[in-house]
Amino acid sequence: MSEEFEPRIIAFCCQYCAYSAADMAGSMRLQYPSNVEIVLIPCTGRFDVILALKAFESGADGVYVAGCLEGNCHFLDGNIRAKKRVAYLQNEIKAVGLEPERLAMYNLSASQGPRFAEIVKEFSGIISGLGPSPMKKLAA
Ligand code: FES
Repeated sequence: MSEEFEPRIIAFCCQYCAYSAADMAGSMRLQYPSNVEIVLIPCTGRFDVILALKAFESGADGVYVAGCLEGNCHFLDGNIRAKKRVAYLQNEIKAVGLEPERLAMYNLSASQGPRFAEIVKEFSGIISGLGPSPMKKLAA
């Protein structure tokens, strides 16, 4: 009997938008995969490549950062800096043999509960297609 792969996903969510959108998705009782672990961060500008690497090391199959819409960061350009860090790290993980699609950045507003649920489904689908992270073997 084959066991169906359920990816472990860690989402670093800005408190002002993505985290509020997640709250809204919950209040609206929207259905989305339960395999996402949300980590509250004050702004995606606080996202650091070390956080993502530690998430992968700890067994995450996919990691995403979710911040305010561009132009709406409460700390001006935190989400732009996060976008650059995500792009940088996508290149770095590719260089060591990890699929860059395992790391992503999304932007949404606090009122986009349905979009939050869509993102979880979309990203979970991408990671399910890739299969378990090869880093899991290294972490074990
Ligand atoms: Fe939300 Fe900066 S405050 S990304």
